Amino acid sequence: MTERVLTGITTTGTPHLGNYVGAIRPAIAASREAGVESFFFLADFHALIKCADPARIERSRIEIAASWIAAGLDPELVTFYRQSDIPETPELTWLLTCVTAKGQMNRAHAYKASVDANEAAGEEPDAGINMGLFSYPILMAADILLFNAHRVPVGRDQVQHIEMARDVAQRFNHVFGAGKELFVLPQAEIEEAVATLPGLDGRKMSKSYDNTVPLFEGGPKALKDAIARIVTDSRLPGEPKDPEGAHLVTIHDAFANEAQRASFHADLRAGLGWGEAKQRVVELIEAHVGPMRAKYEHLMAHPEQIEEILLVGARKARSVATPFLNELRDAVGLRKMVAVAAPKAQAEQAGKSALPVFKQYREADGQFYFKLTTADGGLLLQSQAFAEGREAGTWVKRFKQEGAQALAGAPVEMASGVAKADVEAALSALVAAQD
Ligand code: TRP
Repeated sequence: MTERVLTGITTTGTPHLGNYVGAIRPAIAASREAGVESFFFLADFHALIKCADPARIERSRIEIAASWIAAGLDPELVTFYRQSDIPETPELTWLLTCVTAKGQMNRAHAYKASVDANEAAGEEPDAGINMGLFSYPILMAADILLFNAHRVPVGRDQVQHIEMARDVAQRFNHVFGAGKELFVLPQAEIEEAVATLPGLDGRKMSKSYDNTVPLFEGGPKALKDAIARIVTDSRLPGEPKDPEGAHLVTIHDAFANEAQRASFHADLRAGLGWGEAKQRVVELIEAHVGPMRAKYEHLMAHPEQIEEILLVGARKARSVATPFLNELRDAVGLRKMVAVAAPKAQAEQAGKSALPVFKQYREADGQFYFKLTTADGGLLLQSQAFAEGREAGTWVKRFKQEGAQALAGAPVEMASGVAKADVEAALSALVAAQD
């Protein structure tokens, strides 16, 4: 079975080394594994939660798409699309919203962090918090579950969201699955050593802390300038330095092989100056990303080529999403009305074939008889014997026309144990079926 790997990147900023190391690089590596089907997308609906600047959203989407392609993403091999090109995503978000406990969303880290910040500032807990932020994990669950992703490469800060997606998937399966696993339960995947790259100040590298190192934007000069601003301790050249816990080293190691790591650590212990160490980090990263720059710059100059690639990706994605969402709509009861009417018509059909039947026959004694039975052969009425077959036929005809009214004085007996009401109902059904 092919495994589905899916990840998204929020389009609010310019891709930085943290995005590259934490998301883009592992995702592209995973997409090249055999037996893997990858879905990568621009999480531009998520972007609206924290950014009300249309120009920035527009620019960021282009930069991020160009970065992924320049970094080696092959749009032929993977499904690469924009979240906002998939209308099934917001639709699934609503279906999931209706099985998500509000209390669970109260505990989401991103929301709680905002509440904590408000409280620390002496504000109302929910000051400035929009519903997008509150429901953020549900939109993210929809991104993942819509494509039944098995593995979701993310930074460590996103692990809680994947767990929430699992919970919601489980609840939905339980409530609407009717014994079927509608959703695959996704698994977070973190590249252990370098999952969260520190920024210039040592906190997680993040646009919101303004501590990032750009991946491509600004060229080699911007890279050099940013690395120069990385905070280190104040040890002078010649003084031994502890590589553990120095975030310059963590950034270095994210791009280094074993041998490069070992020698960098050893040199720092031996007194390598921070200035020179930074120069080595710049060279190491440039050796890695430099070759990708030409492609990035070409795409930035031709955004219409990115647009084309993303539209093809959206079509591919929707070829999966549209039929699956139809299945989900059906599971929750949002069905075509004919689908509800059909079982009723079948019941009517079944009712017809379940009509009681009259049978005429001749016994070994040479006499003629008729009887009324239920559809499955249970005896309701038994006639007396007639010398002529025609007489039996006349009575049958009368019963079929007059129904229960013909019972009075008729040469018949009710079968033992049969209620008169049942016989009358059977005869009425026969009359009703005539017209
Ligand atoms: N919330 C993620 C982030 O900020 C981006 C994202 C949105 C995502 N939807 C996703 C990641 C689905 C993985 C899967 O990093």
